[in-house]
Amino acid sequence: MKAVGTAALASAAGGCASFPRASEAFDQIPRLHLTQLPTACNEMGNVTKLVGGPDLYIKRDDVMELAHGGNKTRKLEYALAEALNDGAKSVVTQGGLQSNHVRQTCSGAAKAGIECHVILSNPVPELEEELMGSGNYLMDQLLGAHIYQTDSGRGPVVERVLSDLAAAGKRPYNIPAGASNGIGSLGYMNAARELIDQWDEMSIRPSHIFTASGSCGTQAGLLLGLRYFGNTSTEVVGISVSGPAASLKKRTRDVLDMICDETMIAQDFIGDQEIVVNDEYIGAGYGHPSDAGVAAIRTIAESEGVILDPIYTGKAMAAMLEMLEKQNLRNARDVVFLHTGGAPAIHPYADFLRS
Ligand SMILES: Cc1ncc(COP(=O)(O)O)c(C=O)c1O
Repeated sequence: MKAVGTAALASAAGGCASFPRASEAFDQIPRLHLTQLPTACNEMGNVTKLVGGPDLYIKRDDVMELAHGGNKTRKLEYALAEALNDGAKSVVTQGGLQSNHVRQTCSGAAKAGIECHVILSNPVPELEEELMGSGNYLMDQLLGAHIYQTDSGRGPVVERVLSDLAAAGKRPYNIPAGASNGIGSLGYMNAARELIDQWDEMSIRPSHIFTASGSCGTQAGLLLGLRYFGNTSTEVVGISVSGPAASLKKRTRDVLDMICDETMIAQDFIGDQEIVVNDEYIGAGYGHPSDAGVAAIRTIAESEGVILDPIYTGKAMAAMLEMLEKQNLRNARDVVFLHTGGAPAIHPYADFLRS
């Protein structure tokens, strides 16, 4: 690993170091400050009343500085720091036509002063016109990205773009989809540390935190960060937006292993039983809004004045509200929703949201 301080990180994870020491070691890892942190963690008093408790909170990671923000901004703080340290002159990444990750990467690269090349595919072919007409795709264009579109698998195009850029002397740095590797996911270890501090100040110890989960770096970083920085009890509930629970659990485990390799934390630090994924709220599939998700978007907009999105956070919120309603959350007390962003996608999906 290129970051410094990993030996201290590893020994802190072994349980022989205090929070300040673990925290100090973590701060040695190179990070680019791309947004004002901490983000707010607010009460959702109106929704709490609506569902009849427990107390609900929302962590506002949708309010950040990289072109409307979202969870990828935290990951990019570490990924782009590594890119710059490697002397990269360009960055390459990939995602769907309405990828929030791609939009934030374009913004971060512009801010860092390097070229951004993005490989996009369409997860919902019947909506091509809408998906290319507004929202994240429009912002990628405004942010000056070099856009390559493919209908037949992004991998080979990524390889070709990387080798063309290298041949042109543009030293490309590759960020995987969602920045969900060992480096990017450090952003959510950092978020976990931030939450522990905020919860202490608020005198709460949440039983659960909910997040939408796709490429699983957010869930993996959050879970590892909570335990590493000393929170032993808050359950991280990942709501799948894209695939069966078993495959997301495996992906979360893989990302956990990558972060552990990166930081030299022992791989068995997090047990498999701690990886919780629910796949009952995907609806028709990735990129397709669901009725429950749209209903949750309306509920939160009308009661809290907060805008969720139809592909990730609306579905995760639908899951959280229904699980609370059905009381199938064990010992629920102070439940937090991680708002991971995504609202730019309401525009291409406007017809679903109006209906
Ligand atoms: C708004 C939003 N929420 C949640 C996620 C899922 O995060 P992860 O890919 O780290 O699982 C994404 C990923 O693109 C996203 O854009």
